[in-house]
Amino acid sequence: MPVESNCERTDQRRAGPLAAGLTAALMLVACAGPAGASDDGLRARLSAANPEAGAEAFEVCGSCHSVERDGEPLIGPGLWGIVGRPVASEAGFDYSDALLAFGGTWTLERLEKLIENPNAVVPGNTMGFYGVRDARERADILAYLLTLHDDDEVGGEPPEGEGETPTAAE
Ligand code: HEC
Repeated sequence: MPVESNCERTDQRRAGPLAAGLTAALMLVACAGPAGASDDGLRARLSAANPEAGAEAFEVCGSCHSVERDGEPLIGPGLWGIVGRPVASEAGFDYSDALLAFGGTWTLERLEKLIENPNAVVPGNTMGFYGVRDARERADILAYLLTLHDDDEVGGEPPEGEGETPTAAE
């Protein structure tokens, strides 16, 4: 069954490649797969979020995190594909014991909490980052992080009828 038929939360008013990815990603959010948001407040903020503004807001993260596929780790691990990625899973990056112990997967909700206050969510992490306290800015950053995927993962249209979007498949 095509993913679209279950999840009609698309917003076609936006345009541009980042936004096209976001539309598909929001569908995933609406489907509340493992990477999706079950928190209504976050979901509402994400549907109003702007990935372009998020790319700008991400500048505070960009000195420590690369965003390219196969990007070299900088001070922090690369963030390509971070939404839905297992925590502390970038090969070759020397994670803190605190983050390794945190475990699980980076859902949107967990990412939002991390970005809001890293030290509260993962005490003892080595990020050295105070956090982003503005909820709207966090939503924009999350919208931007959602675009850091291959088309067939979350950022684009799922192949017709094949339901290959891993986290949105039923
Ligand atoms: C001063 C450098 C620095 C800044 C600024 C920074 N980070 Fe980090 N980040 C790190 C480091 C170092 C780690 C690894 C932490 C650990 O192992 O405890 C990390 C870890 C992470 C992780 C977990 C990655 C994984 O593989 O599990 C995410 C997600 C993340 N950062 C997102 C962000 C975002 C989004 C921002 C901006 C809002 C940001 N970071 C700002 C250095 C930074």
